[in-house]
Amino acid sequence: MAEVRYEAASRIYPGSPPVKAVDGLDLEVADGEFLVLVGPSGSGKSTALRMLAGLEDVNEGVIRIGDRDVTNVPPKGRDIAMVFQSYALYPHMTVAQNMGFALKLQGLAKSEIETKVQEAAKLLDLEKYLARKPKALSGGQRQRVAMGRAIVRDPAVFLMDEPLSNLDAKLRVETRANIAALQRRLGTTTIYVTHDQVEAMTMGHRVAVLKDGLLQQCDTPRALYDRPQNAFVAGFIGSPAMNLHTARVEGDAVLLGGLAVPLPRETIKAIGDAGLSEVTLGVRPESLGLVPSGSDGGFELVVELVEELGADALVHGSIAGEGGDRLVMRVDGRTPPALGQTVTVTVRDAGELHLFDPRSGARLV
Ligand SMILES: Nc1ncnc2c1ncn2[C@@H]1O[C@H](COP(=O)(O)OP(=O)(O)OP(=O)(O)O)[C@@H](O)[C@H]1O
Ligand SMILES: [Mg+2]
Repeated sequence: MAEVRYEAASRIYPGSPPVKAVDGLDLEVADGEFLVLVGPSGSGKSTALRMLAGLEDVNEGVIRIGDRDVTNVPPKGRDIAMVFQSYALYPHMTVAQNMGFALKLQGLAKSEIETKVQEAAKLLDLEKYLARKPKALSGGQRQRVAMGRAIVRDPAVFLMDEPLSNLDAKLRVETRANIAALQRRLGTTTIYVTHDQVEAMTMGHRVAVLKDGLLQQCDTPRALYDRPQNAFVAGFIGSPAMNLHTARVEGDAVLLGGLAVPLPRETIKAIGDAGLSEVTLGVRPESLGLVPSGSDGGFELVVELVEELGADALVHGSIAGEGGDRLVMRVDGRTPPALGQTVTVTVRDAGELHLFDPRSGARLV
């Protein structure tokens, strides 16, 4: 049990030019919290995790586990257990031997190892497989053995780097729910890396979004979705992604497809204070709605693609007229429009619009 703190921690890979893979990271993970690190490929997620594990130098700043400064402590002395993408099970050992191996190295008594392995196997539904070799297991079972190896050590912190990426889609969904439930039961502080924003949103108590080694925002899934602090987070979190376009501001309204959408007074004030005549306008697919053709307060969209998902459908189209920004909207799955049709679209609630400064990408209000 421990909290984790990164304090202005950086990792600079030598080279010409050097790469600042993690750049002045400030992050606190509470005791017992499940924190997800998410971001595109190359954003520094694995590096941040490996710095905490002691597998990567910390070139600037400090890392603490509990009240201990572990910045220069070797991996063995950090009381952490890591689960990697490649489970790296020992092929010549049984499941039980794989799970107990770290404990054996620690010099624990055989009976004690057996008890701990049994306990973990029960938690992970692996009791039937303890005598098998890894090659006789399915991908999901191997994944659970890798988890088991971490659990038996009862560490202060679990680190997981894309532990589900070798599983097929269905098993991933199942396993992510199992890992989240297991973490709740064990109450062990966990940092989990993924590039999959759906995984991040469904598993984490909080989610930290990284881009180019820089922390963009760290918040609850709900807060990230409802109040992304910049246009990058807005576009990264949510599936399908938020529609983001440059839009003109006229008077107290923002123009979307020629439709003037009135803005709340505080938003107008923020736009005025920033001296902007254009903003980056963000609209989630579900914040748009279909209205009867030709209705007031709507704009026209030419339907280019309809993805039927069952309960709802995603309509992709171009705004009619010049410019023709592309949009995606979510509609009722029972009555989707037809390909090539021109539909009339409205913004359900101006309060659901997201406005960003087009120069910095920062949220305006
Ligand atoms: N050993 C290394 N030497 C030099 N540069 C490195 C090294 N390892 C990683 N990098 C660089 O550091 C940056 C961050 O890499 P990192 O592996 O942390 O990204 P990531 O977010 O985990 O990406 P992915 O989702 O692809 O796993 C990248 O630009 C990468 O090229
Ligand atoms: Mg990685």
